[in-house]
Amino acid sequence: MPQNTTVAVIGLGYVGLPLAVALARHVEVLGFDIDRTRIDELIAAHDRTGELSEGELRDSRLVYLADESFLDDADIFIVTVPTPVGPDNKPDLKALRSASETVGRHIRLGSVIVYESTVYPGVTEEICGPILERVSSLIQGQDFFLGYSPERINPGDKVHRVDRIAKVVAGTNEKTANLLAKLYGTMNGGNIFIAKDIKTAEASKVIENAQRDINIAFVNEITEIFSRMDISVYDVLEAAGTKWNFLPFTPGLVGGHCIGVDPYYLAHAAEAVGIEPRVILAGRHTNDGMADAVAERIDQALTGPSRLLMLGLAFKEDVPDIRNTKVVDLIKGLEKRGHTVETFDPMADKQEAEAEYGLSLIDAPGTDYDGVVGAVRHAPFEELSLRAMLKEGGSVFDIKGLWRARSIPSSFRYWTL
Ligand SMILES: NC(=O)c1ccc[n+]([C@@H]2O[C@H](COP(=O)([O-])OP(=O)(O)OC[C@H]3O[C@@H](n4cnc5c(N)ncnc54)[C@H](O)[C@@H]3O)[C@@H](O)[C@H]2O)c1
Repeated sequence: MPQNTTVAVIGLGYVGLPLAVALARHVEVLGFDIDRTRIDELIAAHDRTGELSEGELRDSRLVYLADESFLDDADIFIVTVPTPVGPDNKPDLKALRSASETVGRHIRLGSVIVYESTVYPGVTEEICGPILERVSSLIQGQDFFLGYSPERINPGDKVHRVDRIAKVVAGTNEKTANLLAKLYGTMNGGNIFIAKDIKTAEASKVIENAQRDINIAFVNEITEIFSRMDISVYDVLEAAGTKWNFLPFTPGLVGGHCIGVDPYYLAHAAEAVGIEPRVILAGRHTNDGMADAVAERIDQALTGPSRLLMLGLAFKEDVPDIRNTKVVDLIKGLEKRGHTVETFDPMADKQEAEAEYGLSLIDAPGTDYDGVVGAVRHAPFEELSLRAMLKEGGSVFDIKGLWRARSIPSSFRYWTL
């Protein structure tokens, strides 16, 4: 890699910020985001996503930019902006298009533009490339070069961090792929896989999450089957898990903006080539219906309108991210059935919960609830005392197996999937 290479990371969210900080240990990195508040917070060494500590941000040489004009200094651009779905579950590429326009205004001969956002095969070369060409008046593959490197980080996971996991890279040509292998390799000890081409790399990412979604859907479906037979799926999984090749998936509410979204990107790509993505969409259908199915079962286990405590709002354990969380559907499902729900999530942002869902999070669990629902397995919930929260004879609804290995006082009813 040429000396003094400058990398610009476009979009400093869950993916972009850890990546930019990791790369900044080895090369010059500019971090650009359109959200001015996010930039101000990062300058003040506060990462609201909880991925990086104040110390890690203070120690970093990453330069934060809210003004795109400084992007002229970059040689390699890495785009890490959101790729959600619209209300019709079709890919919404607005942020990706807009980021490509931004980058297009600053590239020059020899620039390399790498996309990390999750997309379906073809987006980098057939949608982003032409935008870059139009805005820059340069030609892809001749004047500037494209790359794709899927991101695999897992928010809240302190083990599989961006500098410790294998990274797939692909480029327009061999030279670009090798350059990206070197760049990312500086950060993760050379743990790089060069994919055959950009489309292959795009496809590899989108199937990773679709595969998880389908596997979880299977477990959610057997959960429903076994519940009608009075068999706990957790007991079944524990037994089946003793087989060497049994896959350890657990039931749950599949929310967030990866596993619950990426399969729709794959489904869209399938439909575009005339294939009906039956398996992929069946998984989505099952997982999207899980929150209401659980609400129905909790309702059946209660004797009448009840006051319930919901533990957790985030889409998964140990993160503050509440975007596309299915706990909201569970709350709505319980309220629709006549129950009152108070929600406690010490990791989630109260204002965001109010703005996004009209939900007022409580500051601390109250007392005398008829039932406590363990919806998210945040580590601090391990410390909560059921006795302090539940009334005599109250119910524990253990969706995530939070209390499975603990002894529940006999005065409470224990319910699990
Ligand atoms: N979060 C994950 O676990 C994860 C894992 C792997 C892959 N991904 C993929 O990575 C991509 C980014 O996800 P994320 O979770 O980091 O999203 P995020 O919402 O946390 O962060 C995206 C950031 O991009 C900024 N942004 C939006 N439009 C922009 C633009 N036009 N120019 C500059 N900045 C812009 C936003 O302000 C935000 O700070 C998505 O495609 C996602 O599917 C996410």
